Amino acid sequence: MQRVLSGVQPSGDFHLGNYIGAFRQWVADQESHDAFYCVVDLHALTEGIDPAYLRQKTFEAVRNLLAIGLDPKVSTIFVQSQVPEHPRLSWLLECTATMGELRRMTQFKAKGRSQESSRVGLFTYPVLMAADILLYKANRVPVGDDQRQHLELARELAQRFNNRYGELFVVPEAAIPAVGARVLDLQHPERKMSKSVESPLGTIGVLDDPDEIDRKVKKAVTDTDGEVRYAPDEKPGLANLLSLLAVATGRTPQDVAAGYTRYGDLKRDLAEALVDLLRPVRERAASLAAEPVVVEEVLRAGAARAHEIASVTYAQAAEAMGLLA
Ligand code: TRP
Repeated sequence: MQRVLSGVQPSGDFHLGNYIGAFRQWVADQESHDAFYCVVDLHALTEGIDPAYLRQKTFEAVRNLLAIGLDPKVSTIFVQSQVPEHPRLSWLLECTATMGELRRMTQFKAKGRSQESSRVGLFTYPVLMAADILLYKANRVPVGDDQRQHLELARELAQRFNNRYGELFVVPEAAIPAVGARVLDLQHPERKMSKSVESPLGTIGVLDDPDEIDRKVKKAVTDTDGEVRYAPDEKPGLANLLSLLAVATGRTPQDVAAGYTRYGDLKRDLAEALVDLLRPVRERAASLAAEPVVVEEVLRAGAARAHEIASVTYAQAAEAMGLLA
């Protein structure tokens, strides 16, 4: 069976954009792959996150992964820092990667952090991510388009290591969602849906209650020509609503558009469909919130299983590079 691995930052929130663009794929992949899903708390440290907040968000992220439908009996769900081989392999890979390569990473550049006061961890972030992937010899890595370059680096480091020290790592393939999987902000349809703190009305959280979902959909920005048709360039707000209803009901946006003449009717049906889509997520999250031991047990079992595999790969890499066993 092919192995799939992906990671999510505990600091990011779980919203409809992640759910449609990424998490639904994670859930589907667990049926057909040996799946590993990792909450990357070490990566969150690069942002200088508050300790109590990080602890809480990491726990919540694991709970949310269960809520969206990952099955811990089938998938390995774990927290990065609980498997010590991640930073250990990262060091070996840092001694494989070059300054030039990391300087070219657009995410690092975009954050404008190439300054004296920048954290070193932010610079080496992509190498730790490569370690996350290569430790498990993952074949397939579902990530957003913004991670494409990081995945390229992971592939390059795997190949370089293999050429220099002997065939060890699997060269991973990125699995990037189709353009249709891009959910836009309901208030600012020119950009994708991201954090609710930045756009409280434009972002639907996977745990939003039905009233919140209804309110946000009703307030979604459209346009004034009043004509229901699917035209993403001309009418991005409306197109976003049509694609969302299409995704939620398994149709095409054009099909959905054909069934409406009024924006209000479309919004009413969309709100209802999204409430239905997210209902199981909300219900699972509520029952898990009442039972923290379930999450604790998932963490324990996940770390043990991940460690079993990561420790073997790490030992092979260390030995290949000349470290004493
Ligand atoms: N950098 C990724 C992001 O911000 C998260 C991540 C860390 C990741 N390690 C990973 C994704 C390994 C896939 C595989 O989205």
